[in-house]
Amino acid sequence: MTKKRIAVIGGGVSGLSSIKCCLEEGLEPVCFERTNDIGGLWRFQTTVCSVKKRPDFFTSGQWEVVTESEGKKEVNVFDGVMVCTGHHTNAHLPLESFPGIEKFKGQYLHSRDYKNPDIFTGKRVIIIGIGNSGGDLAVELCHTAKQVFLSTRRGAWILNRVADFGYPFDVLFSSRYKYFLLKICGLSLVNSFLEKKLNQRCDHEMFGLKPKHSVQIYLLQNRLKTLPSQSEMNAEIAKAQEEISKRYVESQRHTIQGDYVDTMEELADLVGVRPNLLSLAFTDPKLAIQLFWGPCTPIHYRLQGPGKWDGARKAILTTEDRIRKPMMTRVIESRNSMTSTITMARFMLAVVFFAIIMTYC
Ligand SMILES: Cc1cc2nc3c(=O)[nH]c(=O)nc-3n(C[C@H](O)[C@H](O)[C@H](O)COP(=O)(O)OP(=O)(O)OC[C@H]3O[C@@H](n4cnc5c(N)ncnc54)[C@H](O)[C@@H]3O)c2cc1C
Ligand SMILES: NC(=O)c1ccc[n+]([C@@H]2O[C@H](COP(=O)([O-])OP(=O)(O)OC[C@H]3O[C@@H](n4cnc5c(N)ncnc54)[C@H](OP(=O)(O)O)[C@@H]3O)[C@@H](O)[C@H]2O)c1
Repeated sequence: MTKKRIAVIGGGVSGLSSIKCCLEEGLEPVCFERTNDIGGLWRFQTTVCSVKKRPDFFTSGQWEVVTESEGKKEVNVFDGVMVCTGHHTNAHLPLESFPGIEKFKGQYLHSRDYKNPDIFTGKRVIIIGIGNSGGDLAVELCHTAKQVFLSTRRGAWILNRVADFGYPFDVLFSSRYKYFLLKICGLSLVNSFLEKKLNQRCDHEMFGLKPKHSVQIYLLQNRLKTLPSQSEMNAEIAKAQEEISKRYVESQRHTIQGDYVDTMEELADLVGVRPNLLSLAFTDPKLAIQLFWGPCTPIHYRLQGPGKWDGARKAILTTEDRIRKPMMTRVIESRNSMTSTITMARFMLAVVFFAIIMTYC
């Protein structure tokens, strides 16, 4: 049987993992990437101009993909298409928000066109927007520019990447246990706890940063083989959009907002790879505890079902070792009393965990 050909549009992380999944499923991926960034077998500097259903789509399920490379157009037929073109491909430069900009004598540019700080040496710079791009740029430019201003129209909550004990923020906050707490405590209680924590690091009111909105916590799909029906997907999208608009301030970022663990579990259910914590609690309690307390990494969805990986259990149980390893360039012997306290605390937590899991699953 001839392999089904799949067009993968975009060679970023989504495109690359889509290629891997296609290969695992015995499909033939062809990746189109309009830049020449990645080496290897892919077709480079090829822009996908359009994707259309073929006239016989109803019986063949095939797509017509029009590409352009070095001014030459080409039409190819595929059995499937994966759109991995990214959320931030096009720069958003809302010049209409800055009346009079055309008379500005200085230079202005979008962060996407920024390459290095040289052109700003000794200059006064204003960065508009306090997203990750704004923050990164302010840090980089302040070393060489004369003065740097970081501007925000409605304030923001500043979340540091490094959380308690020097661990990465997402490692500590993306566990099933934390999401379970969020569900039982409610968003407003969790928000006030987080706001208190963030204010301990930097008093948002004092710095004039405190926004009107509270902290907005947001933090596989290429393994999905059968999509739900179009009407089901549209209904889901409408529901998600309504929930998002209630929870977050009006923003262009809505398309990428959602709860990480919830989204992963929902997709894992559809793919059939969600680990069953309750049955694991009896058959493999050590693994069950790690799945509940530890960071919810993609390897959690390689334990069973399509894409199952034999090394998954070991990789999950050693996640923390790999996080700690690069930090431990000088190993300090831990004191016995400390070790026994940690062991005791772990035992107590395990007991609590089993009590919780009986209600959670
Ligand atoms: C400035 C910046 C810094 C970031 N830093 C971090 C970070 O430190 N850590 C982190 O985890 N995330 C970071 N992110 C987020 C991360 O980069 C994205 O989540 C990730 O790149 C998304 O991957 P993707 O494959 O969906 O899209 P992309 O990486 O955007 O890839 C999409 C690809 O599709 C190609 N493409 C688009 N249209 C077409 C077309 N018509 N035809 C052919 N090819 C096309 C593009 O050229 C691009 O190569 C950062 C993002 C930005 C913008
Ligand atoms: N190091 C990193 O990890 C890194 C670095 C860069 C980018 N990224 C990622 O790339 C994505 C994009 O980040 P980003 O920082 O470029 O964009 P962003 O998060 O959308 O932030 C854009 C900022 O610009 C402001 N803004 C938008 N339109 C405006 C207007 N008309 N007038 C005034 N201010 C305006 C927004 O204000 P409001 O909040 O008021 O809307 C916001 O502060 C994110 O997913 C981010 O995580 C990551």
